[in-house]
Amino acid sequence: MKKQTLQLIALTSAMALIGCGGGGSSSPSAPPSSNAPATSSAASSSSTLTTSSSTSSAINSSADSSTSSSIVALKDLADFPIGVAVSAGQENFSITNDAKQQAVVAYHFDQMTAGNIMKMSYLHPQQNTYTYTTADALVEWGQANGLGMHGHALIWHSSYQVPAFLNNFTGSPQDFLTLIAEHSKNITAHYFGKVDSWDVVNEAFLDNGQYRSTGSEGSIFYQKAGGKDYIATAFRAAREGDSTADLYYNDYNTEQNGAKTNAMITMVKELLADGVPITGIGYQMHVMIDWPSISDIKAALKKAADLGLMVKITELDIPINHSWSDAYRNGTVHRAFTPALAQQQKARYCEIVKAYMEAVPAAQRGGITVWGVADHHSWLMDLMFKNEPQDIVWPLLFDKDLNAKPALYGVADALSGKSCSN
Ligand code: XIL
Repeated sequence: MKKQTLQLIALTSAMALIGCGGGGSSSPSAPPSSNAPATSSAASSSSTLTTSSSTSSAINSSADSSTSSSIVALKDLADFPIGVAVSAGQENFSITNDAKQQAVVAYHFDQMTAGNIMKMSYLHPQQNTYTYTTADALVEWGQANGLGMHGHALIWHSSYQVPAFLNNFTGSPQDFLTLIAEHSKNITAHYFGKVDSWDVVNEAFLDNGQYRSTGSEGSIFYQKAGGKDYIATAFRAAREGDSTADLYYNDYNTEQNGAKTNAMITMVKELLADGVPITGIGYQMHVMIDWPSISDIKAALKKAADLGLMVKITELDIPINHSWSDAYRNGTVHRAFTPALAQQQKARYCEIVKAYMEAVPAAQRGGITVWGVADHHSWLMDLMFKNEPQDIVWPLLFDKDLNAKPALYGVADALSGKSCSN
């Protein structure tokens, strides 16, 4: 257990004023996988990150409340990795030359996931070309600042982030599996000892529990491999490349504890029975403020924990407004991020972290990662409410000035064993 060195400061009166802002039950259709690229340009160009010493001094001298020494560092409260997804290199909101963002990340987190730059098309754009420069710089900055890496993602169907040589492949299933194995093995070998864990396969299922195969939501991996064998192949090759990293299957909407959850658990059992080296299950946890229920989330996490594997929340975010919610469809959208909504979000973050700690035994906790540093960085900004005049998503732990939101205190409360209140 890491030391609990710092005390939480009292919340400001403005934040403590009002209780829950409501949010009735909803049964929205599933949020989709990502489709919209957020990179401003190719993320593979060379880049440098500011040095660890400048980062430390930024932390020490910062007047920013999110890194003030009077505020708890989340990583110091947890006995498992506390991670954050970052952009880097030439991406929008890149951490690369942003000292303020670096200070916040180094202070509160001890693991990073690259939001994009370690995906297939960036690391492996052509069959015999690997472009590691930008990702290597991020990994090295993390090492210099005490942050590990969760690798994301070796295999993902999302077509615009699949390299053309795979999208356009026309050979035999066996030759395709050979390419998948090379890809998986070469990248994990490059990062051996530097990346703690990998999302080896991301999003192989539809929400109804069927494998993604053909159709608009289909997977070229399933199609070109002639079935689901690409999954086992990717895991086996990842293990050849890296003998120690944790190897995860990762998906979204599996926290609902429905058909997709059960399909994923069945697949993992089959992989284990076949001796495939899968060691963890990742729940993306792109959830809403009032859905799914905490009991469903907890039951879903427990199904993975009961297999004895590592369990990780890989992409947590909790938007206040969600374009797939009943509330949105009924015309109820919050125009301002009120203190009441901030408190409701705080409680929801707390309850999810608490559910994770209750469902997953300590030795199986792969950690919790939030998908982005500050609200305006979030991928959800691109995906939801595109025509709205203002930010009405507010999904993360820090506001647009990189100040800690009540949501951060919700996470801290859960990690400290306090009750969740709003
Ligand atoms: C998202 C990134 O955050 C965006 O910048 C990009 O435009 C699309 O991909 N599930 C995943 C992540 O596994 O890779 C996605 O990341 C978010 C949904």
